Amino acid sequence: MIPVLTIDGPSGAGKGTVSRVIAKQLGWHYLDSGSIYRALSIACLQQKIDLNNPKEVIKIAATIQLEFKGDNELKVKLNGIDISKQIGLETTANTASIVAAIPEVRTILLQKQRAFQQPPGLVADGRDMGTVVFLTAEHKVYLTASAEIRAKRRYKQLIKKGIDANLTKIINEIQARDKRDTERKTAPLAKATNALYLDSSDLSATQVIEKILNFIR
Ligand code: DC
Repeated sequence: MIPVLTIDGPSGAGKGTVSRVIAKQLGWHYLDSGSIYRALSIACLQQKIDLNNPKEVIKIAATIQLEFKGDNELKVKLNGIDISKQIGLETTANTASIVAAIPEVRTILLQKQRAFQQPPGLVADGRDMGTVVFLTAEHKVYLTASAEIRAKRRYKQLIKKGIDANLTKIINEIQARDKRDTERKTAPLAKATNALYLDSSDLSATQVIEKILNFIR
């Protein structure tokens, strides 16, 4: 069985940073499952689909073609067009959370995600990696941090990139996303029973990485 390390948790807990470093250190593949939901919401908006119309969103989910390149600087192509810039925007995170709540969409996207399980191993980052997509994964982690800390980290990242940001707005958006992601009926964000629980509020990325590497060793 190809080993899988799942890292689930709310937005901004540091899953992306930590997962990329660990995947690189282990020489494993990396799945950023959020980017699939993000790309889907971009596809819907490009085609002027109402995100609150599940039937239309499901049709788009069934037909999107995605290409991922590179592990650190992720390049994503949607139906042949580069969407790497748009995919990281806060507005995209919000629209992704809306389409991700549609059960049929999640079912359609299961295979796309499972296809990433290739030798020698996979680090999978998301909300339901350990509870649904890779239920039998060998190693599972639930990584979280307080909403305020997560918002502050996101705020700093945006400012560093020269993007205008408002901390209060980010906190409110993060809380709204947490609510939607944890309260939805299908595959809600939850800790897998056998997952290592890590609160990164008072930990650096390096400390989190070390704890996870020790755990899987
Ligand atoms: O991890 P992220 O911020 O890129 O995710 C964006 C949204 O996508 C998130 O609010 C919920 C959804 N998502 C999901 O429902 N399941 C996943 N495995 C990953 C993301």
